[in-house]
Amino acid sequence: MAPIPISPTDRLFILTGAGISAESGLPTFRASDGLWAGHRIEDVCTPEALDRNPALVWQFYSERRASCHAAQPNPAHIALAELESKLGDRFFLCTQNVDDLHERAGSARLVHMHGELAKSRCSEECGAAPVEDHAVYRTLDEVGRCVCGARLRPHIVFFGEIPLDMDRIQREIARCTMMLVVGTSGSVYPAANFVHWARQGGARTIYIGPEPPLNTAAFTQVVEGNAGTVLPGLFQI
Ligand SMILES: NC(=O)c1ccc[n+]([C@@H]2O[C@H](COP(=O)([O-])OP(=O)(O)OC[C@H]3O[C@@H](n4cnc5c(N)ncnc54)[C@H](O)[C@@H]3O)[C@@H](O)[C@H]2O)c1
Ligand SMILES: [Zn+2]
Repeated sequence: MAPIPISPTDRLFILTGAGISAESGLPTFRASDGLWAGHRIEDVCTPEALDRNPALVWQFYSERRASCHAAQPNPAHIALAELESKLGDRFFLCTQNVDDLHERAGSARLVHMHGELAKSRCSEECGAAPVEDHAVYRTLDEVGRCVCGARLRPHIVFFGEIPLDMDRIQREIARCTMMLVVGTSGSVYPAANFVHWARQGGARTIYIGPEPPLNTAAFTQVVEGNAGTVLPGLFQI
C-alpha cells in the first residue's frame, strides 16, 4: 500500500483502543467474547460493582496494573510517538486505553478519556485531585485513603460514567483534517461517534485493525492488519 501523505497544513487526531495494546500482550474485550481478562464488565467496571464489591474491583484493577507494568510498548505505540515528534502541535492523541504504553513510547500530547490505571481518586468525589498510584493491592485494607478519609477508587471511567476531557477532545476533532482510529471495535460511546464528528467537519478518516469496526461505513479508508505491522511507515510527511 502506498504511504498516506500528510501535508504541512494537515492536523491529525488519533483515537486508539484496546487493539493497539494487544501486541504488547494486554487482552482486548473482543478477543475474549466480551470479557475483559476473564471478567464480566458489569462485575468490575461499573459504579454499582464498586458499591457492591469494592474488593473484587480493586483486585481486578490491581491485576491490570501488574500486567501493564510487565508489558512493553510495541511498534504501533512507537510509530505514533515518532509521528508526534514530527508533527508537534498538529498531532493529538486520544486513547480509550487505561494502560500507559503510549506515554512509555514517548507520546506527550495525549488524553486518557477512560482514565488511567496508574492513578486513584476519592471514591466520594470530594473534589481532591487524582493521585499517582502504582500499588498492586492484595486486600481491600491495603487500599489508601483520600485526604477526606474516604477510600480511594481506581481513576477509571466506569461504564455509565462520563468520559474525561470531552471539551478538549471535541475542540481537537473540530479542527482536525485527518482522523486515524486504531484497534477499537466501535462499540463504546461516545468514542464510536468521533469518526462521525470528524466526517461532519470534512476530515479524512482512516481505520487500522485486523477486522472492520462496527462503525466501518464512516471511514474513508479501512486498512486491515495488525497495528504493529501497519502503522510504522503508514504515513509520508
Ligand atoms: N489496554 C487497555 O487499556 C484496555 C484493554 C481492554 C479494555 N480496555 C477498555 O475497554 C474498552 C474497550 O473498547 P475498545 O473498542 O478499545 O476495545 P475492544 O476490545 O472492544 O476492541 C478491540 C479492537 O481491537 C482490534 N484489534 C485486535 N488486535 C489488534 C491489533 N493487533 N492491531 C489493531 N487492532 C487490533 C479488534 O479487531 C477489535 O476491533 C475501552 O474503553 C478501554 O477503556 C482497555
Ligand atoms: Zn476525598
